[in-house]
Amino acid sequence: MAVAVVASRSQSPAQAATADTCLSFDRSAELIAKSARHIAGGVNSNFRAGMAGGPLVFQRGEGPYLIDVDGNRLIDYYCGMGAMVLGHTPASVQTAVKEQVDKGILYAGQSEIEFEAARILCEHIPSAQRIRFGSSGSEVAQAAFRLARAATGKRIILKCEGHYHGWFDNILWSTAPGENAAGPEEAPVLVPGSNGQNAVDAAGLDVICWNDLGKLEARLARGDVAGVIMEPAMCNQGAIAPGTGYLEGALAACRRHGALLIFDEVITGFRLGRSGAQARFGVTPDISIFAKAIANGFPVAAIVGRANLLDMFVTDGVLHGGTFNAQPVTMAAMVATQKALTQEGYEAASRKGVRMREGIAAILKEAGIKAQVTGFELMFHVGLGLDAAARNYRDLLKTDKALYTRFAHALLRRGVRVLERGAWFVSFAHDDTVIDATLEAVRGAAKDIAATSSKSEPIAVN
Ligand SMILES: Cc1ncc(COP(=O)(O)O)c(C=O)c1O
Repeated sequence: MAVAVVASRSQSPAQAATADTCLSFDRSAELIAKSARHIAGGVNSNFRAGMAGGPLVFQRGEGPYLIDVDGNRLIDYYCGMGAMVLGHTPASVQTAVKEQVDKGILYAGQSEIEFEAARILCEHIPSAQRIRFGSSGSEVAQAAFRLARAATGKRIILKCEGHYHGWFDNILWSTAPGENAAGPEEAPVLVPGSNGQNAVDAAGLDVICWNDLGKLEARLARGDVAGVIMEPAMCNQGAIAPGTGYLEGALAACRRHGALLIFDEVITGFRLGRSGAQARFGVTPDISIFAKAIANGFPVAAIVGRANLLDMFVTDGVLHGGTFNAQPVTMAAMVATQKALTQEGYEAASRKGVRMREGIAAILKEAGIKAQVTGFELMFHVGLGLDAAARNYRDLLKTDKALYTRFAHALLRRGVRVLERGAWFVSFAHDDTVIDATLEAVRGAAKDIAATSSKSEPIAVN
């Protein structure tokens, strides 16, 4: 995985960009190859394998930076796939965790810290009259489906094309289908996301295009839908706000047809604002799920919703379990994270995020690269090759993925780590110095790809 020219160790991104050198990731490549003897592919999630140049191995995180085993200090816009809203080493969270570790790890019983975590969530999230904790977004999505079916007596979970709600067999469908497999936009077909799934896994599932009220209403009218799940703003792919009136209309349509509305706020929660996308857009769903930024990188997830629904876990024989649910160390992390998510913090970080988003758009334009930079303050999307802002997954299919891969790789060589799907996650720790260095790297990377943009071929990697 030698990448172009060798640079000295511990270079800052700004130095790398100024000297017009390229970072080396050889040690990462060596360790990944070695570890593949024990770990399949050297990674513990398929999503960690797909970075141009290969997966990296890190030694530590520091605010907005990750330091890898080659000694590179990378500005990080993965932010733990969106989880690290406060940055990598927020002092208050670390202290709270260390203190809790000294008090014990797992009680298989209740602790006061989890009651505090629950109270904070209920105070801040409009739909949270009751909650239950879990450990991952995938897992609490399953709890939401079970509740929806139990509450309505109906069978179908209706999902939206391009939205992701975890990797389990009954929902990993049509998350990123190829254009040829996806069927017509008016009537998309379910496309499995993995080998090993079969049609039986999708027997309780159907799919529609997002952001189109007419299509949602028409599908609900068939009367068999227990729950409609969607990201209230589409962020797993793209960064797309709902059209005016779409969320309100979706809620009203669900009411009319006896279905529950489920918001997946695993990404949008604590990113689109302190109280999630539901507060930002003013629509309160029946059930919502949260994970990622809820505890700044600790494995906490939550299913929240109307009291009468969540109480079905107690009164109606709907099972919800999990050895690690509300594990006290993660709860301590969550309470500390939630306390650190202040209004002033959001305002300051948002100013930085907007400055960067606008800076990237201006640089790409200046370089003559067609792009749409869309989304929010602490999470946005750079879609190369788009003529207009995407409204749904079908529009996103028109992005020039090969060109973006080149762009992401050119950024990495300058010390800036971004996801290849175009998403950028900004944390409270990304200050103006970091943004200046990032924009400098963007300028260089834009130059690189502008020179060859007509070819749109992946960068050759040794
Ligand atoms: C919108 C959304 N929902 C659910 C999930 C699944 O969460 P987890 O990876 O914690 O299982 C993800 C993960 O990326 C996500 O982006």
